[in-house]
Amino acid sequence: MQKGLKGVIAVETTIGHVDGEQGLLLYRGQPVETLTGTYSFEEVAFFLWYGHFPSPTEKETFTCALKQARSIPPYLQNVLQALPLETDQMSVVRTAISALGLPAYSFKPTIEEAITLTGIMPSIIAWWHRRQAGQPYLPARSDLDHVENYLYMLTGETHSHASVRALENYMILTMEHGMNASTFAARVTVSSESDLVSSITSALGTMKGPLHGGAPSGVIALLDEIAASDGDCTRVLTKKLQQGERLMGFGHRVYKTKDPRAQALKAQLLQTAGDDPWLDLALQTETTAIELLQAYKPGRSLYTNVEFYAAAIMKAIGLAPSLFTPTFSASRVVGWSAHVLEQAADNTIFRPDAAYVGSWPQA
Ligand code: ACO
Repeated sequence: MQKGLKGVIAVETTIGHVDGEQGLLLYRGQPVETLTGTYSFEEVAFFLWYGHFPSPTEKETFTCALKQARSIPPYLQNVLQALPLETDQMSVVRTAISALGLPAYSFKPTIEEAITLTGIMPSIIAWWHRRQAGQPYLPARSDLDHVENYLYMLTGETHSHASVRALENYMILTMEHGMNASTFAARVTVSSESDLVSSITSALGTMKGPLHGGAPSGVIALLDEIAASDGDCTRVLTKKLQQGERLMGFGHRVYKTKDPRAQALKAQLLQTAGDDPWLDLALQTETTAIELLQAYKPGRSLYTNVEFYAAAIMKAIGLAPSLFTPTFSASRVVGWSAHVLEQAADNTIFRPDAAYVGSWPQA
């Protein structure tokens, strides 16, 4: 029995490949770091769903369909309005996506449905973010591409090219990552011949946890704590490790070397944040944490994961920590959908066995 299914192969896939020993992540055969800076969010989503990059006409049609999916139908706005104001962003997104499925989603899922969910998710996040801030909802701008429009709907401002590229690269780097917990949850759900909305709802519920998508806010909390302790990362990190706490943003189930996404984001951050003192703190924390993890957890190969630099990038752009996991979800919905489509195309319901270790009837 493998606790947490460590090392167990659950599916065959052509979508993505993670080599944790070499620090390699492929999207349909392409190293992920060759996609950032070359392709847009829309082009990489198309690539993951259709298996080839779009022609100019395909790109235009696809971009247009994503734009058309951005508006929140009135009934869904009523659902959002009825939720308690203090509800956290991930619970709101999960509830809203679930409510979106009320009219007509069924087996088998389609790419058109994936476009609808991917197109609307940033709008839901922005709607809730602005409601919590006491600001009116901003309609989408059809002159802006997916990522730039997301930033606009959140803040009401147009952002610098560097900020948009930084967020777009982050969203490309985190679209797909093999059989992580939320992707697995999505595949398990559709394997019962359920629908795409139900699968994405399962994935969102799984993504919410601090050991998966919830880590970036933990990274900011860690960095804030270090900043409040006069930048003494050795003292703060040592105390945490001595108390048996995990350092958020470090370690990965698959990567036993540097996470290539963290490396790409770090390079991006060095370009975007320049001489921001906060960046120095993040760099110092990374170095110290890796040294201390080697001392306190010898032989475990714990390095910076994608969440560490994701948090740093989002902070540099000015996104609130409450937006980190929802933003991650707004990119990962592409990978979830690709896997749900693949699972549905050649489906066998997931039904593993359990080793019974309870009591037996007395003779
Ligand atoms: N800080 C301190 N110790 C750690 C950390 C960490 N971040 N990560 C793992 N360890 C230790 C564990 O305590 C354990 O020690 P032990 O053998 O003495 O008991 C050992 O390393 C192995 O830990 P596991 O939980 O078995 O490793 P696993 O591969 O299952 O965990 C995980 C991966 C959940 C990501 C873990 O590294 C962790 O909790 N990291 C912090 C949270 C985080 O950053 N999550 C984001 C992951 S990236 C993503 O989801 C997109």
